Formats: sequence, C-alpha cells, structure tokens
Amino acid sequence: MPVATQASLKGLTPEQLEDTSCRLCLNNTYHLGLKPGQEVLDAIGGAHKLQGWNRNILTDSGGLVLLTNICNSSDTSSMRSFQMVSLLKLAKITEEGVRFLSPHDGSPMLLTPEHSISLQNSIGSDIMMQLDDVIQTTSPDAARMKEAMYRSIRWLDRCMAAHKKPDTQNLFCIIQGGLDLEMRRECCREMVKRDTPGVAVGGLSGGEAKADFCKVVDACTDLLPELKPRYVMGIGYPEDIVVAVALGADMFDCVWPTRTARFGNAITKHGVLNLKHARYAEDFGPVDERCRCVICRPRGEDNGLGISRAYIHHLAAKETVGAHLLTMHNVHWMLDLMKRARAAIVEDQYPAFARDFFRDYFLGKE
Ligand code: GUN
Ligand code: ZN
Repeated sequence: MPVATQASLKGLTPEQLEDTSCRLCLNNTYHLGLKPGQEVLDAIGGAHKLQGWNRNILTDSGGLVLLTNICNSSDTSSMRSFQMVSLLKLAKITEEGVRFLSPHDGSPMLLTPEHSISLQNSIGSDIMMQLDDVIQTTSPDAARMKEAMYRSIRWLDRCMAAHKKPDTQNLFCIIQGGLDLEMRRECCREMVKRDTPGVAVGGLSGGEAKADFCKVVDACTDLLPELKPRYVMGIGYPEDIVVAVALGADMFDCVWPTRTARFGNAITKHGVLNLKHARYAEDFGPVDERCRCVICRPRGEDNGLGISRAYIHHLAAKETVGAHLLTMHNVHWMLDLMKRARAAIVEDQYPAFARDFFRDYFLGKE
C-alpha cells in the first residue's frame, strides 16, 4: 500500500494514483482527525469522498503518530532519530490512551481507543487499525514491552466494543511484543481469539536486525489463521517484502517508494538508481525496460515517444514533475512486484521467484 498520510499521495492526483494500478492506499487517522477534522469528514461523508477515491483505504490508528511513516531508509535515517525524539517528547502513553500536545497550538490532547475508532468510523476506511501501544523493538526494557503488549490486547477489546460499523469496515488487530518470540506468540494467541478479519504485525521497521525481523514475522505467521490477511506494518524495501512474503505475510505499507522518488531514486529490476547522477544525462532508455507503468511504457504512433532517464535527470534538477513521474513509476513497480509474487505463489514457483529477484536486484548489471 502506498502511503497517503494526509489523504493525498504527495504529487499525485487521485486519478494518477489509479493509473499506478493501486487499489488500496493508506491514510492516517491522527492527521485526518486534526485536519480536516471529524466534523468535515462527517459532513462530506468520509475520506473516499474527500479525496475522490473510489478504491480502498486503510487507516492507521494514529497512535504511532510521528513514527508511522518511517522505515529503514538512507533518506530517512537522520529524520527517524529526530522524529523518535519528538515523539517521546510529545506523547505520553497511559492506560486511557495516548496523551500529546497538539502540533497546531500546543494544547493537550488525548487519543483513546474509542476516539481513534470513532474517527475511523467517520473516515469510513475499508480497513481500520486498532490503537496500539508501540515500543521500538530495540528497546531493552522488557517489562515495558510486556506492558505494551498486554495493553494493546486490552485496547483491541475497547476498539471492538466502540466499533459502530463492523459490517462495512474491517478492524484489524496489531501483534506487539518486540523481539521476544514468546511474547509475540502469547500476543498472537490472545489476538486470534478475538477473531478480527485481518491481523497486523506491528513494532517492526524500527531498525532491528534483519534476522530478528525475520524471526518475529515467522513466529507470528506460524500462529495466524491461514485465511486471513497478514499485514506487516511499515515495511519496506523490495527485498524485505520478498522475504516477508516467503514467511507468510500478505500486506505491507511504506513511505519509502514515494519518498525516495522525491530524492530522484528509481526502483528498477537491477536495484535503485539515482537518476540525478550525471551518468543518466544522456541515457535515453526508459526508467526500467520491463516496467509497464505510464512512465516507462512506450507511447506515440510508432512507439517512439516515452519518458527517458535523461528526461527525469533533466527535470530532477528543479522541476517537480520529475518527482511526480518517478512516484508513479515507483508505486507501480512495487505493486507489480506484489502481482508477480502472487502469480509465483499461485504457480507454486515462489522459491524461484525469490531467487531471481535477489539475483537481478543485487547482482544485475546496469
Ligand atoms: N506502523 C508501523 N508500525 C506500526 C505499529 O506497530 N503500529 C501502528 N499502529 N502503526 C505502525
Ligand atoms: Zn515504470
């Protein structure tokens, strides 16, 4: 899922987002609750109407506030530590909910499970997330981690009780428990009993080692129902997704593909290319030979027209349309990766798919 925190994917119109083949995008409850606010959302009839988007919307619950859009990326690493610090300063978690100071006027605010659900009912998202107590997986405080895990279960119960539209809006639980596999298993057992229509694995994407990430996803997917979607939150890079799919995960979200596009980075079969680099000034080929997005696809009567790496290189210097074009390409590329993964699973060819992906992405020559 591409991330449209504020009900817009940066730089794209809703129609352009449709052109990437996106059928489900992510909004944030906290941001929409602040602006335009619940009254406007109720008056217009929800976030689909607000953004002219007929396809699906998933809303994160808002508790992760500033952390939501962060994942492991060189573009964000410095920002990540900055935002973590501001999160700690701004938010205080109690059994009641998340207390924080309004970023608009500094007034104290409280986001409870009930309020998050009420906002998500007003937003009308197709998939809603429970409010959860998220601790960075790398935190050494095991007691706090345990408290957060059990609190997230109690908050799920409060969310389910407050949910007014269970027939039309799917509320997902979020597994917490840090890197402690027993804690994760205990959380899975409790959450699975609540029988939500889908399950998320949270708390990852916070800078843990890849081996730990894999162990957590594996421990969780092992205990989750076969027939419900499993969503690993805040992930990620193509390679993380290919691995997590192998471990049994189905859904992902990350700002990285769209954010990195704004830095001039194109995701391709052969890895990420920074098109700002001088070597692309006279590269007249498409961004990715194999890609069929509206950017890479040849156009014109003799297929002689199309957007070249050289053009994006030229625009990247100062024209924002370069970033918009790359955003469309990167979103399409990630969705196509998932499409190919699904096809490989259906054909019982996933190991070969993963092997080919890693060979091309990391060893492929440009
Ligand atoms: N986004 C990335 N990780 C998380 C998480 O653990 N909880 C929530 N609510 N959102 C996330
Ligand atoms: Zn493309």
